[in-house]
Amino acid sequence: MIVTIDGPAGSGKSTAAKGLAKRLSYEYLDTGAMYRAIAHALIRADIPFGDEMRVVPFLSECKLEMPPGRVILNGDDITEIIRSPAMSDASSRVAAQGHVRAILVGWQRQIAAGRQMVCEGRDQGSVVFVESPCKFYLTASVEVRAKRRLAELLAKHIPATLDSVMQDIEIRDHRDKTRAVGPLVQPDDAMVIVTDNLTPENVLDRLEEEVKKCVCG
Ligand code: DC
Repeated sequence: MIVTIDGPAGSGKSTAAKGLAKRLSYEYLDTGAMYRAIAHALIRADIPFGDEMRVVPFLSECKLEMPPGRVILNGDDITEIIRSPAMSDASSRVAAQGHVRAILVGWQRQIAAGRQMVCEGRDQGSVVFVESPCKFYLTASVEVRAKRRLAELLAKHIPATLDSVMQDIEIRDHRDKTRAVGPLVQPDDAMVIVTDNLTPENVLDRLEEEVKKCVCG
């Protein structure tokens, strides 16, 4: 079974998806990391994101591997580099390109085929795994999400302020929600969880309880 968890940046979905996968003994797919990796690769190759004629053949030659907790592109470990604020911005811009989304959606379906997986992103329940019987949409206020993201950045010694992070999140939210292809939407059949006042443990308990209902019918 595929469990989908979508939501905006900082909604707690990565922590929740990883934790849920562990509790269920499922695999975990971080699709945001895929967009980040592709943005990084295109920038390094000096290919403009909108240049479909160059992007498509380039991506067909890329080898993206995602062993647990790592992101390896063409043999290089890019796990840490792709977490910078600059890459957050670049990934949201590359994710607005329809030709990029079409390729990544295909990769995601291939990776998940025949597996038990928790898939996390923006379009997992609305586009990629529409048939999933178990969909979640996590969200929280911009302030709470920015505070979480700031704590993550400072823990990695990446300089940032609350104002700069809030501004970045608002720009990304707007881009993610208004793009023509695969925008961030709340699927009608997803369970919505507002995480402002919930601990990661509370969120996990809720998710696990709901997944059990999906499995048992
Ligand atoms: O979850 P994240 O912050 O690592 O995602 C990085 C960017 O990738 C985000 O701005 C939106 C985009 N994204 C997307 O468009 N679709 C997905 N399934 C996952 C991420």
